[in-house]
Order: sequence, then structure tokens, then C-alpha cells
Amino acid sequence: MCGIVGYIGHREAYPIVLKGLKRLEYRGYDSTGVAIIQDGDLQVHKKKGKVVELEEAVVGKNMHSTICIGHTRWATHGEPSDRNAHPHLSNNGRLAMLHNGIIENYAQIKQELTNKGYTFKSDTDTEVLLNFIQDIQDNNKSTLEEALRIALKRIVGAYCILLIDQDDPETIIAARKGSPLVIGIGKGEHFLASDASPIIEYTKEVLGNEKQTPFIQKLDMELAAIEKGGYEHFMLKEIFEQPDTIFDCLRGRLLHEQQQIVMAGVDNHIEALTKASRILIVACGTSWHAGLVAEYMIEELCRIPVEVEYASEFRYRNPVIHAGDVIIAISQSGETADTLVALESAKEKGAFIFGVVNAVGSSIARLSHAGAYTHAGPEIGVASTKAFTGQLAVLTMMALKMAKAKGSISDERYSHLVNELASVPKKVKEILADTSKIESIAQQYKGASDFLYLGRGYNFPIALEGALKLKEITYIHAEGYPAAEMKHGPIALVDENLPVVFVATKDMYYDKVVSNIQEIKARKGQVIAVATLGDTVLPTMSDNIMFVPDIDEVIAPLLSVIPLQLLSYYVGTYKGIDVDKPRNLAKSVTVE
Ligand code: G6P
Repeated sequence: MCGIVGYIGHREAYPIVLKGLKRLEYRGYDSTGVAIIQDGDLQVHKKKGKVVELEEAVVGKNMHSTICIGHTRWATHGEPSDRNAHPHLSNNGRLAMLHNGIIENYAQIKQELTNKGYTFKSDTDTEVLLNFIQDIQDNNKSTLEEALRIALKRIVGAYCILLIDQDDPETIIAARKGSPLVIGIGKGEHFLASDASPIIEYTKEVLGNEKQTPFIQKLDMELAAIEKGGYEHFMLKEIFEQPDTIFDCLRGRLLHEQQQIVMAGVDNHIEALTKASRILIVACGTSWHAGLVAEYMIEELCRIPVEVEYASEFRYRNPVIHAGDVIIAISQSGETADTLVALESAKEKGAFIFGVVNAVGSSIARLSHAGAYTHAGPEIGVASTKAFTGQLAVLTMMALKMAKAKGSISDERYSHLVNELASVPKKVKEILADTSKIESIAQQYKGASDFLYLGRGYNFPIALEGALKLKEITYIHAEGYPAAEMKHGPIALVDENLPVVFVATKDMYYDKVVSNIQEIKARKGQVIAVATLGDTVLPTMSDNIMFVPDIDEVIAPLLSVIPLQLLSYYVGTYKGIDVDKPRNLAKSVTVE
């Protein structure tokens, strides 16, 4: 989604902003632009395409300035094009503005401005807001800041905007509501960005802006964490980081020797969590799949009914929420607009919100009453990998802790699962030690036009996640289904050209999944199985096999997802796709 960077201070501003925009590329975008002020002259350069295309287009131009704002756009109003790229200029040519978010009532304001003679060069809601600000400033003879404040009172929607005035090269005006903005404070200089990644190499002091009175907080992030570190893609780096990120997530919480789980967010609210008559899980995308796994775990271990909701649907169907209902919100970015608004309305109705979030200090983290961070570090690849396993690790610890407190798990089972969970980082490392088989499977099937992913029980959400990963970064159509349910539809698709991925590790459904595999083989489908190491049956009936170490079925998703992430990664790279930034997708979906 749109990325924003701004700099004002004593250095050359354009190179800082350009570098920052590159750091935000992972969010997904389709066009780029910057604005600078030189001796009272406001200059805007913008271009459809990648940041480097803008960089090339301005080579040779005088870009000297100590103030610059820049933007990567992810189209919402109007196609990706040079004219729709931000920043936009006001009709009087004096103001430049860029924006992340959506102005929902822009059409009405545009009509009013058109009636007054304003013209628009773009199809964007942003240009409408900017001219609205100009109009207020001209009519009220107010300062720009006042005009902006008045304009924003009329605005329905979410936004983060940066606004500059050619007559005031000492000021960038920023405003946000529902869209993220980090303000970094240097010595005589300020950095503004949609997340901390463009800022951390200059300063670690950022303005916490969730309170009326701003305060300074320290950023806990290292530059190396957002660079590729020798891997060809961020996605591959992030897949290979998982033994460490899962370990970091468990560290200090899963006290293996003492057979204890310490999570302050859960401990402090254990009553609310365990006494809940039901738990609602709200999320989008990959995080929603983590929610499905949690549903199986919490229902089995804690005996509390769980409903897993797509945030976008939950919000708008006027759900029944009672005071004291527990909502677990799962989000990597902590900024997903649908999840955020769903939580805001549930919170108003008195629900208790527990956030499982990766991005520290993000909007969802701040909105939650309590929570547990996944500690996976910055995830740059658009397709989520390490954040997903981080979510699973946190949710497993939560379920175990709640079950123990509730007395719904035997001591023996609890301690077995604690031991199994502790073994995950090592076992993930084992899977990653040799990827040659997965690479050759990817090579073999990269030309397929469709894939089916099947699994049962805890592996059903993993089938969904495997199919999503494939769609996202290979552009191959893929469907995930409960393995038995495939008889009610998808089986009609099976022929010798259809690769069917079975997530078929040893669990209580294993024999039934074996029968499902035979049903596919009887129709000449190509079977690729994720199987437990040592399984001698599946190799006899599968065309290809990817092994994972043996583990309890509750924890199995943490392992069985890894080969599926790699399979998608290799198919995507063999097809020449930019797997870190697949077309049309955004890392952080900050519009509803
Ligand atoms: C986008 C990303 C997905 C992610 C989803 C939810 O679609 O591309 O990878 O799963 O948003 O994002 P969240 O940050 O809330 O987990």
C-alpha cells in the first residue's frame, strides 16, 4: 500500500527520501513521486512504475533542497499513471500534497469545487482534498495549518497526508487518522515515514503520537533486519530466518525446563480469557489462516467455542457482540484497515481485545487491551512467511496457557506439547537444511495452470495457506480445500494435468487422508505430499514427496507450512516473478 517519506533539515533531502521510498517498496505500489522546494519554486516529479524509474527520469535535474516529500502509490482512485501519482499540486500551484488512505466523501466535495471553477488533473481523491484545503485557505485567509484542520473536519475516511507550501520551505505539515506515520527526530532535522524502515539509519528517536501530548520513544530495530543479508530475495531470507524468529518468539516465554509459559498479556487477563463464553478471532489473509489453526487448538485444548472471522465481513454484518466477549486480533502489520475498524467497533461495544501483532507500536497493538507480539522482526516480502509461524507460535503458547489455567488439559499432555513446541526451531532448521527436492518439484510443476491443496484437521488451514502462497507469488490459480470435502466439487477438476498437494503428516486423520490420496490417484491426478519423515506408505502412492520431522499434530502446522512456502518461492522465481513484490498485492492493506 501507499508509502510516505518526508525529510526536512540541513541535509540534501531528495536522496534521503529516495532511499526511504526504496525501503518502503515492499509494501507494494505502482507509481512514485517526489516534491521539493528550491528558492520558492515548488517542483514535482512523478512517474508510473518503480522508484528506480523515477530516479532515472530525474537524473541531470537539479534536485538540491533541504525539504522533500515522496510517495509510492497503490492505486485506489484512478488507474496507475503519471498523472494519478502523488504528490499532487493545488490549482494555484503553491501547495503539494501526498496521501495514504481513502477519502470516502470525495465525490461530493469534488462536485462543490467543480461548481466553483476548480479543475482536476488526476482522478484521485487526494487532489480533491488538496484543492479543498486551498479553497478554505483562500476564502478564510487562514494559515495552511488552520485550513487543513478545517478541511479534515469534513473528511470521512482514513488518511495520512504530508503537505508543503512553496512559500514556506521550513515546514512539512503532517496529519493522520487511521493510517500509519512515524516521525523520527534528528539533530535539527525531522524524518517522516509510513513505517520505521526509512528512518532507522538516521535516528532511533521517534515521536509516539497516539496520545494528545507527543512523547519520544526509542526504536527497537536494526538496519540489518531490513536488508537482504546475502539472500536473493527478502522472502527467501525470511523463510530461512524462521528457526531464529520462532526461537525468539518462544524465548523467555516457553520456559521448557520449568514446564511453564510466561506471557504477561495472557497472565494479566487470564480470567477474561478463560471465562469467555466464546472467543472471536478477527484477521485477514495469512493471519486469518493462523486464526483457523488457533480455532482448532483453543477448542481442543481449552474447550471454549471459537469463531474465526474475516475482518471485512465481521465489521459490516453488524455482529452480535456482548460486553466481555473476547476478540483475538491477528495481524502482521498491525495496520490492516479492515482489521482495525472491525476492532474499533467491537471495542466500542465492550469487547476485550487481545492483539497478536508483529509490528511493535502499530495501530492494532495500541488499540488492543492486551496482547503478545510475535517478535518475527520486520517482514519485507509481501507474502507472509515468518510472521505466520510467529503467529502460530504465540497462539499455541496462549492456548496451552489458557488450557492449563482452566484445567482442561492433563499435565501429561501439557508437558508433551510444551516439549514439542520447544523442538520446533530445530526441526524447522532440519527442513531448511536441504531444499533440493522442493526445488526439483517446483521445476517440474512450474508450468501448471492450477493446483489443488488438501488437508484435514490442523493441516486444513495449512492447505489454505499453501494455496494462498502459490497464488500470491506465482500467479498460478490454486485452491485450498478440506481433503474430504474435495469429493463435493474439486474432484471434478482432477485429471493427469492437475497437481494436488496433500498436507498428510501423521495425525488422527492420516488413514482418511491416505484414502483421499487414492481417490485422486484413481483419477490420474499428480500427487505431491507433505509427509512425516519415516512414512513408508505415502512414497508408494505419491508422485512427489516433501518430508517434515515427526511432531504432535497440534504443532504440525509450524512444520508443514515450511515446504509449501519454499515450493511457492521456487515456482515464482523459476517463472521470473518478483516474489518480494508480486503484482497488485500490498504488504500492508491500509484501505478498507
Ligand atoms: C496483505 C498481505 C498478506 C497479509 C494480509 C493481512 O494481504 O499481503 O500477507 O496476510 O495483508 O495483513 P496483516 O498485516 O493484518 O497480517
